[in-house]
Amino acid sequence: MYNRLVNKETKLSLIGLGYVGLPIALEFAKKIGVVGFDTKQERIELMKKGVDPSNEIESKEFEGADIEFTSDPEALRSASFHIIAVPTPINSYNLPDLTSVLKASETVGTILKRGDYVVYESTVYPGCTEEDCIPILEKISGLKCGEDFKVGFSPERINPGDKQHTLTTIVKVTSGCDPEAAENIAKVYEMIIAAGVFRASSIKVAEAAKIIENTQRDINIAFMNELSIIFNRMNINTFEVIEAAATKWNFLKFSPGLVGGHCIGVDPYYLSYKAKALGYHPQMIDSGRAINDSMGRYIGKQTVKKIIAQGMDNKGARVLVMGITFKEDVSDIRNSKVVDIIKELKEFDVDVDVIDPRASAGEVDREYGIKLLPGTKGRYDAIILAVSHKQYKELDEKWFSERLSKKGIVVDVKGVLRNKIKNFVYWSL
Ligand SMILES: NC(=O)c1ccc[n+]([C@@H]2O[C@H](COP(=O)([O-])OP(=O)(O)OC[C@H]3O[C@@H](n4cnc5c(N)ncnc54)[C@H](O)[C@@H]3O)[C@@H](O)[C@H]2O)c1
Repeated sequence: MYNRLVNKETKLSLIGLGYVGLPIALEFAKKIGVVGFDTKQERIELMKKGVDPSNEIESKEFEGADIEFTSDPEALRSASFHIIAVPTPINSYNLPDLTSVLKASETVGTILKRGDYVVYESTVYPGCTEEDCIPILEKISGLKCGEDFKVGFSPERINPGDKQHTLTTIVKVTSGCDPEAAENIAKVYEMIIAAGVFRASSIKVAEAAKIIENTQRDINIAFMNELSIIFNRMNINTFEVIEAAATKWNFLKFSPGLVGGHCIGVDPYYLSYKAKALGYHPQMIDSGRAINDSMGRYIGKQTVKKIIAQGMDNKGARVLVMGITFKEDVSDIRNSKVVDIIKELKEFDVDVDVIDPRASAGEVDREYGIKLLPGTKGRYDAIILAVSHKQYKELDEKWFSERLSKKGIVVDVKGVLRNKIKNFVYWSL
């Protein structure tokens, strides 16, 4: 497979060109022929013009790439190594929504031929590739996995907005349905991954490795959030406690905060779902999720309490929320937990203004029905720094004093303004 790709006798295809799929497609397209397939025609049109619809990749990265962008599944026939990188979200009951990954398997099933490889990159629970996806590939294609075509799983570890840990500089875990497939898949990825490839012993091991990376992070942050709730009652600042504790060599320095987005706040639900299907009710994983999912409401409530404690009326109080993206320095607003802060405030009849230098006003309106303001307006009774975008971290107390009422409050979710705010009531997680 490696030689056929390198000699351009066949192509590699990417199914799903989002945050994960497009960078992989463009990286391979520096070396071999690539077909980039996505069901969203408008995204394909942008990519044809050298524009990344997810705003992560610069136009110059498209230059000279040997890639055909298409929404026609027939174009996938010219490829023999197919990588599936479609979304794996949760539904409103926090259960895995496998619609895209199953649909993509059907698409690939229709064009699959003898000798082809299919590698899944979408984050799933252990067992999903073999139990849910391979049967679809086999049924639609009429071919047999292992004999006629090979399957593998290679999880993605990129971190949106992170310019240091990028696709080629992160070790990539690969796996295959048999030793031959595992080796050939590893070799293909080695073509582009400078940091090297880790050959996992099976597809399930590779699936599980990815899901626990994110679940571990979720649980660690949940522990910090729980500490923050406890320390708030003790009137001590959690960030100060963590700073002191982190001077010990084996202390793990995580910090409290909102856990949104489409990875950390979602993936543990996949593991929990599968555990329950196997008759085990995970307590740690579910507790972590419950704590992290409650933090937006908690911050909203704490803000209202502070407003009342300052002798102000919560009804009609003016609050500015700074930042609505799911984390700092990205434009992605999917599954943003800031929305929970806003909902909570509104339930207490607070007037909320929201600003964000990175988010698109149109998207925020479509997704959440929230109107982003281009800037601040008048004086506020509380300002919540919800997302610590680079621009916000540079603000000083003067900026806040020009926008706060006399008894105003600063709520600093990530503790980035600590030691800067002296003349207003200050609260952080
Ligand atoms: N974004 C990240 O940082 C990240 C990191 C690691 C892993 N992951 C995982 O990678 C997978 C993809 O995530 P993403 O962030 O790239 O998603 P995304 O929403 O940015 O992109 C997915 C793309 O797939 C397309 N798509 C949806 N259904 C399709 C189908 N049936 N056929 C073809 N295209 C289809 C969409 O139009 C979209 O362009 C998910 O499983 C996610 O959990 C994401």
